[in-house]
Amino acid sequence: MSGYQGPMRVLSGIQPSGGMHLGNYLGAIRKFVDLQHQYDCHFCVVDMHAITVWQDPAKLREQTFHIAASYLAAGVDPKLAAIFHQSAVHAHAELAWIFNCVARLGWVERMTQFKDKAGKDKERASVGLYTYPVLQAADILVYKATHVPVGEDQKQHLELSRDIAGKFNHDYKVESFFPLPEPLIKGPGARIMSLRDGSAKMSKSDPSENACVFLSDDADVIAKKIKKAKTDPESLPSEEAGLEGRAEAANLVGIYAALSGKTNADVLTEFGGQGFGVFKPALADLVVEKIAPIGSELRRLEGDPQYLQQVLTDGAERAAAVADPIVKEVKEIVGFLV
Ligand code: TYM
Repeated sequence: MSGYQGPMRVLSGIQPSGGMHLGNYLGAIRKFVDLQHQYDCHFCVVDMHAITVWQDPAKLREQTFHIAASYLAAGVDPKLAAIFHQSAVHAHAELAWIFNCVARLGWVERMTQFKDKAGKDKERASVGLYTYPVLQAADILVYKATHVPVGEDQKQHLELSRDIAGKFNHDYKVESFFPLPEPLIKGPGARIMSLRDGSAKMSKSDPSENACVFLSDDADVIAKKIKKAKTDPESLPSEEAGLEGRAEAANLVGIYAALSGKTNADVLTEFGGQGFGVFKPALADLVVEKIAPIGSELRRLEGDPQYLQQVLTDGAERAAAVADPIVKEVKEIVGFLV
């Protein structure tokens, strides 16, 4: 970590731009629950990132509560970790501006997520969508976070955060002021694919309801979605090599492995030679067992917006107590009068 001497700290965020799904759970939130026992953790609902594409204001408020409730329902404990919404901690926006002046245009231009999200007509994309990864670097470094649990799709954004931290340290001759944050990506569940298309990531913005298992889905809906998941006519292989070129089968085996704590190889030892007529019901039972209780708790919490608001307000206060002094120091380093 380039000689950085500060405390180990964790930061991660999720956009309130749609329902929380199995990919978010396995790629991110499940890791949050484990990490909160080892590190000083900050988990935010990144509402400022969400508005880089159009969000209906009433829906945005609702989704912000939904993401906060999902953190809690999945087991993030607000006594251990700060849970807050990004826009409530002003330091994120302040540091983002300074980082906009540190990051190079060429670096941001390489970001594949911008290209994917902006589509063909990038002239019409918001400027915010373009500088999105710079704000993400600010989210992380405003806490001097050393570890960032995310799914695989965030790898490139994390590399940019490291580049920005390194350039700031170098340009202002403050070696090791910012840590070079380590992504925590590895492990089963880092890349969960759509249930309808094994080549597309499971995503909040997928137009097909059946592409995602949402944390809010009840047992019946979960079982139906797994039953309808796209597969091929072959039975499951006994070895992992046999999954090559079978993206949908590989995805379902990966979900089973991630939720059961087994490896893909173990799952194939158990189910190799069986058809999807046997494997899908076993997978549906497992997803229901692990996800449906989170869904019930999520619905209970969403019925108590006052409690959710209190958690977010307390979390923002705790987060600001860490971030504000760091931003003050950054301003001094840059040469602003403070
Ligand atoms: P977002 O809101 O798209 O996703 C939230 C988290 O879920 C992970 N994820 C997945 N993991 C496995 N399989 C999938 N199909 C899948 N889909 C999503 C993401 O990798 C992420 O960890 N830019 C971020 C939000 C962000 C952030 C940050 C993250 C803003 N500031 C600072 C970490 C640190 C995003 O759009 O995540």
